[in-house]
Amino acid sequence: MHLGYDFSYSHMAGRWRMPGAWPGHIFPDIEMFEEMARIAERGMLDLIFSGDGTGVPDTWRGNRDAAVEWGVNWPRQDLNPIAVAMSRVTRHIGFGLTYSSTFMHPYYTARLMNSLDHLTRGRIAMNLVTSTRRSDAANFGFDELMEHGARYDRMEEFTDVCRALWDSAEPDAMLWDRATGRVGDPRKIHDVHHHGQFFKVDGPLNTPPSPQGRPVLIQAGGSPRGIRASAYVADHVFGADMALPLQIRQRKALDEALVALGRDPEKVGILWQTPMVVAETRGEAVARLDQLMQALPDEAVGAYLSYNSGYDFSRLPERFSLRELHQEIIASQASPMGFLHELSEKVGAATELTRAEFFEHGRREAINYDTTMAGTAAEIADRLEEAFEATGSRGGFMLGHTVSMPLDLIGIADLLVPELQRRGRFRTEYTGRTLRENLLES
Ligand SMILES: Cc1cc2nc3c(=O)[nH]c(=O)nc-3n(C[C@H](O)[C@H](O)[C@H](O)COP(=O)(O)O)c2cc1C
Repeated sequence: MHLGYDFSYSHMAGRWRMPGAWPGHIFPDIEMFEEMARIAERGMLDLIFSGDGTGVPDTWRGNRDAAVEWGVNWPRQDLNPIAVAMSRVTRHIGFGLTYSSTFMHPYYTARLMNSLDHLTRGRIAMNLVTSTRRSDAANFGFDELMEHGARYDRMEEFTDVCRALWDSAEPDAMLWDRATGRVGDPRKIHDVHHHGQFFKVDGPLNTPPSPQGRPVLIQAGGSPRGIRASAYVADHVFGADMALPLQIRQRKALDEALVALGRDPEKVGILWQTPMVVAETRGEAVARLDQLMQALPDEAVGAYLSYNSGYDFSRLPERFSLRELHQEIIASQASPMGFLHELSEKVGAATELTRAEFFEHGRREAINYDTTMAGTAAEIADRLEEAFEATGSRGGFMLGHTVSMPLDLIGIADLLVPELQRRGRFRTEYTGRTLRENLLES
């Protein structure tokens, strides 16, 4: 089993003020991130990860007030300097950073990842997203979201360019020969000459080849087109915290997409997003989750749901059809997956809901209430083992959306990991030199 820790939401939506969260620190104090990295490495996790977005949520009521007031997907910072700082106080753990193939340029991104891979000595993963949110797109020159399928066409081409750039310097291209003064071998540096639909890049990358050559690529598409892109792009896939039958369905769809591309499904794992709270007793874990549930004002719930679905739910009528609402969201080029999809699966797409019922489900969604594993280490280990086997025993879990960071991360490192080790499910030492070796090759 592989394990990561997702710290994306640790300072947002009420979590930052829960007992045991950010003690003596305020976001984005780098000392807190360094401490987090040390704890995660004590637990021998594969990687620490953060998602990202580059806009301020402003879908709810058509303005950003609730997001700013209650810290909903705001504030955020670019992850790369934070990863560098964390890498300086650790030796083994990897770092997963999120960038958008819709907004970034592949030359800049490939070069940045190469530099980070050098600085961390081969511990970088990049999570590529297409960005499903209008407020993000508005900062990069778009009036509307690019069409869903076109976003994935661009992601695949973006990946082609990055790969060609990372391969443009062969692993032994550098000489640094003090006797002769020769720095590089010109025969081992290659052009790229990419002329595609979205990008025109000559190459080569003007950097030395990095420890991993190519950083580990992660991708979290959930729609049929997104899953096809996962099969093309990803070394390792990232999956949503859906009900187990939906995860089994995604695993099957990914396997088919991988086979269609001639890739071996046994070699491509999925890290399932897994919100969790582990404590000495089940009662304590559930009480902590309930406390977070109470801490979130209605306005924050509305801002969170509206941003993620790309639809202003403040405009919902008193009573409406779930199917019609979902169709409207899909037509706007936001993702067909996510909350509405999962709610339709749960209560039936044909259901009519009242506003009050919708927001009750929404509050649970906003803190991942139904998908959070809250309990003792033994109880959580049982559920992880069950989910691991049901989804093909490849990959593992991205533990996250915890109530309090670092308290819950300490629970992961000191309670859950030893339990999984006792069961022979998790490493007892890092065996690889790089993230690629630890996550993909062992
Ligand atoms: C676990 C997980 C993490 C994600 N992280 C981000 C993120 O940080 N930023 C972002 O814009 N999208 C993020 N997404 C959205 C996905 O990249 C993707 O758009 C989503 O799963 C919907 O699938 P689709 O694009 O195939 O419709 C994440 C999705 C999942 C399941």
